[in-house]
Amino acid sequence: MEKKNNYPPENLVRLNKFLANNTNFARRKVDEFIEQARVTVNHKVILEQGLQINPEKDDIRLDGERIREKTKKLYIILNKPAGIITSTDDEKNRETVIDLIGMKEKLYPVGRLDYDTTGLLLITNDGDFANKLMHPKYKVTKTYVVKLSRPLEEKHREKLMTGIKLEGRRTAPCKITYPNKNDTETAVISIVEGRNRQVRKMFEHYGYFVRKLHRSGYGHLTLGNLAPGQWTKLSIEEANKFFK
Ligand code: URA
Repeated sequence: MEKKNNYPPENLVRLNKFLANNTNFARRKVDEFIEQARVTVNHKVILEQGLQINPEKDDIRLDGERIREKTKKLYIILNKPAGIITSTDDEKNRETVIDLIGMKEKLYPVGRLDYDTTGLLLITNDGDFANKLMHPKYKVTKTYVVKLSRPLEEKHREKLMTGIKLEGRRTAPCKITYPNKNDTETAVISIVEGRNRQVRKMFEHYGYFVRKLHRSGYGHLTLGNLAPGQWTKLSIEEANKFFK
């Protein structure tokens, strides 16, 4: 088969590896199935375990049942620019974070950043992963750099860190520090919750207006040197670190 088609070599995979990756059977079991003539490639019985096949083009069957390539899980970090909405689509046809990625896959943002908020946004096609991370049980730390309309008073910093009553419910304890101790209009806040517009509302509670809000960290992830609008893929190992 390899000699007959002219697919680029990187699209080819060994038949037994393809079957083991896309069924619940281990490689040894799959090899037995091939020996027992239970596997066809393009409707021909194949007894060669190491035959190179193209998963996108070849018809692979086990006991007559088509085996398709499992959807590859995608985990993406985007540095969201201001003026983009965090949604999969928009009724007013405004640009979304999914448009920025420009992939054909069905992708979902993990949580949301406001229209004017910039910074780290995780995007994935793995719905279970997204739902798990957004569950309060996982307490993922989100870190934001906040530019305030006036210097933050120490009494307010302490109250915000302990927790305040917001819309009838207390906020969980959080951390607020200053990247530069001479500039108390710029603070770094780390929260473990993800309530709607939470950071803005927390500061507004004491009469501060949030001029700029930038998410610099999400769990163990940071933006590194991604420029606004740029994105990068995460490895599965990096994505799974959230659950370790
Ligand atoms: N908190 C907010 O108020 N806005 C965001 O975009 C994220 C957290």
